[in-house]
Amino acid sequence: LCVKPGIAGPRIDCLPEPSGNQTVCESRGCIWNPVDNDIDGAPWCYFKDGVGYNLASQIGSTYNLRKNNGPRNPWGAEFENIQLRTSTIGASVLNVKIGIDGRYEPPVDFPRETISTPETLSFTTASSDDLFWFSVIRNSSNRKIFDTSLGGLIFSDQFLQLSTYLPSENVYGWGENAHQSLKHNFSRYLTWGMLARDQPPNSGNLDTMNLYGVHPFYMCLEPDGNAHGVFIFNSNPQEVTTAPGPSLIYRTIGGNLDIYFFPGPTPALVTQQYLAFIGKPFLPAYWALGYQLSRYGYNGLDEMKQRVGAVRDAGIPLDIAVADIDYMNRYKDFSTNDNWSGFEDYVKQMHGWNMKMIPIFDPAVEADYLPFQRAMSMGAKFIEWDDYSQVQQDIQKLYPMAKDTKIMLGVVWPDHHVGFPDFLDSTGKTQAWWRDELELYHSKLTFDGIWIDMNEPANFGTNELHPWYFDDNDHPNDAPLFCPTNGSNQWDLPPFQTHAVYYYGGNQNNAYLSSKTLCLTGVQNNGTYRFYDVKNLYGLTEAIQTQAALMDVTGKRGAVVSRSTFPSAGRYAGHWLGDNTARWEDLRTSVIGAQEFNLFGIPYVGSDVCGFLGQSNEELCLRWQQMGAFHSFFRNHNTLGEPAQDPAVWPSVASATKTANLFRYQYLPYLFSLHFQASQNGLTVVRPVFFEYPSDTETFDLGYQFMWGPRILVAPVLHQGAVTTNLYLPNDVWYSLFDYKYGSQIDAGYITVPSPITYRIPVFVRGSAVPRQTPTTTTTMSRHNSFELLVAPCQMGRAVGVLYWDDGQKIVDSFDTHDFHQFNFNFNSTSSGAQLTISRTRMGTVALPTMDIIEIFNYPSPPNFRSFTLNGSTVNINVQSSTYSGITKILYISTKNL
Ligand code: GLC
Repeated sequence: LCVKPGIAGPRIDCLPEPSGNQTVCESRGCIWNPVDNDIDGAPWCYFKDGVGYNLASQIGSTYNLRKNNGPRNPWGAEFENIQLRTSTIGASVLNVKIGIDGRYEPPVDFPRETISTPETLSFTTASSDDLFWFSVIRNSSNRKIFDTSLGGLIFSDQFLQLSTYLPSENVYGWGENAHQSLKHNFSRYLTWGMLARDQPPNSGNLDTMNLYGVHPFYMCLEPDGNAHGVFIFNSNPQEVTTAPGPSLIYRTIGGNLDIYFFPGPTPALVTQQYLAFIGKPFLPAYWALGYQLSRYGYNGLDEMKQRVGAVRDAGIPLDIAVADIDYMNRYKDFSTNDNWSGFEDYVKQMHGWNMKMIPIFDPAVEADYLPFQRAMSMGAKFIEWDDYSQVQQDIQKLYPMAKDTKIMLGVVWPDHHVGFPDFLDSTGKTQAWWRDELELYHSKLTFDGIWIDMNEPANFGTNELHPWYFDDNDHPNDAPLFCPTNGSNQWDLPPFQTHAVYYYGGNQNNAYLSSKTLCLTGVQNNGTYRFYDVKNLYGLTEAIQTQAALMDVTGKRGAVVSRSTFPSAGRYAGHWLGDNTARWEDLRTSVIGAQEFNLFGIPYVGSDVCGFLGQSNEELCLRWQQMGAFHSFFRNHNTLGEPAQDPAVWPSVASATKTANLFRYQYLPYLFSLHFQASQNGLTVVRPVFFEYPSDTETFDLGYQFMWGPRILVAPVLHQGAVTTNLYLPNDVWYSLFDYKYGSQIDAGYITVPSPITYRIPVFVRGSAVPRQTPTTTTTMSRHNSFELLVAPCQMGRAVGVLYWDDGQKIVDSFDTHDFHQFNFNFNSTSSGAQLTISRTRMGTVALPTMDIIEIFNYPSPPNFRSFTLNGSTVNINVQSSTYSGITKILYISTKNL
């Protein structure tokens, strides 16, 4: 380990609260030693050495630990006795669990599968001076990948802390936060909050705030390029400090420290191991890979029609119209606004154009209308107060339907108070009610996918006397929710409140864990779960039920996209990166966010294209459209009150979007194959460049470029006024796919390429065979067009690739029985000729278009054939439309219905 202590040496913060001084620090038994904040932001008040436990006894892989004589923490008495247990899952995944039997465990059902790998990790312990610590070692290289000799192990009821040295600074992940670089920065102490909150990313400043989801997972690239992953299975409010050393200090305020180590040794294998464990991503319907048009604030159906019409008239490929809360009557789920009458006819019309429709549903339902009444009569549950004495009677009495219940009523978009369905209800009645409501509404409006929002869950004005949202006439009799914060409430005012409270965008004074959400003292499943423990699971549990209901109700595969996520959410839903702002900074952080969510197992991810908050502009929107065309979830979305920003608004944006979308639609067979493999094998779709080049250190901090699957590299234009792009191409054979050099070989290394707005953003393909299709304006129509194969040979004249193909909408029960085709492409060119082998390794029954075009880059000389042999059969060439250019070296073969 290379310890770079900075000026202060590794320090474990003893005063993370925003205010405090030497007196407070010393009363905690900690060291006060101010340093220049500009150097590395080291805490001024830090724990003395020796914080931790000692080893009382060991039986096999169980270590009984006892609180040592070292310093104690200020946030509650440590448990005197805790246990550390290690186990291996399927030979390679190492689990180290520090905890106490019977404490809260998150009710998340992971498949806990493993994939076989020869790579193994081992666990070793050591102790000195009354202090126990452990390390995790990669056996093949003998490298320590985790080393808690830093000290600082704390285990009290509501404050748990674990610190470790890291083998390198190449650390990726932890979320959900807006990161300005893909690789973490260990030259400073930075604490990142993890608590699901309705918190828009603020990409303009270095912003360590907690956003919508929680992902306690990171990947680390060791100095020799080996990769490992670490997942801490904990659902309480939590945070991590990335610090010089390099080191990590992880803190959570409940549960256990249940840590899983994935050995890799490649980045792709780490992801596969992590996703085998937590669950592999769902396969979206084929259409869900199409372009989506959305906005908040359509003034009625007519405006939606007008904007959809404008985009279609501009010839821009478009698959999905998205309906935000405007379509609802007074923002009530399962209702339709008067100025949206005729919506169902329009949806039918769109279906006729091969388009699809995705409406939003918020979890909270108003406590005084039919769907709520049906919930009550079905025995559905809502998030509740712990006991009747807490129920806010003045609010409760306004809602006869909620009479005598303990439902915690809150305020979201609807005019009147709402209840929050309890998706952890073990009787299944809540889930059945949710499904039934979706079914009933689907019988009126035939939606194809579902957007679930506000599921942190978000609640407006919690603990605020004068919430901004109530300054209108929409909320005639609403009173905000106040949580019991009288000092005796250990859930709403725990001894340690985490970064989510101590760093709440300039508003620390009024911040609580419950800010913008419900009171943490609430309960779910009849009191079995404390909201304090399970709040971070709300989005996940809603996604599980919504995906199940969607499949059930439509009988088809669709897509669910969720704002709040937790590990394994990708099994059920995709994610968009939340309420960004129409700024260049936000375009940049979304490039990083999409890569991170792929590491988290949620590849169906993207950002609000052109920016949600604030007014977008022509150039920004154009560049965002161009970049977003490579994100699987590809949706232009805008907020209430801002001018339209769909691509048809500006002719230049319309034309660039059309070009970008046609490119995407041309490569959809490739993109779909990536998603298929991600679902089947736990892989990523958009991925960091280092995934493909883990031994090239230049790729380790290349967050503003990304790989689109294994074959295509994208270097988006992310700066205002840019007409050139600087980028890095790792050592490989690359061909341009974006400019007048299309098909020609580009030298690897740091290069600058032209990127005027009339070009595509820089896109390169490396040695490979990539399936494509002639694009049209919907994915459904494009699917019927003939296939093309792009052959871009590598140094050895070889190219390989795959194609997966199913009917695009059948539900996948299991890949063993699913009906799909799989083809492998193998191209080999030598001085004696070229061979292309196309082998079908899986035979489905779905009709397949023919392959009519084979485009080969870097073909050495004009071929003299009129037919060729493929897999032993003769293939005729359409000579009139086949070409070869000695200048570009592109051979373009038009076959006759191969
Ligand atoms: C939330 C969502 C946003 C949506 C709005 C209205 O802010 O994040 O996407 O448009 O609510 O439903």
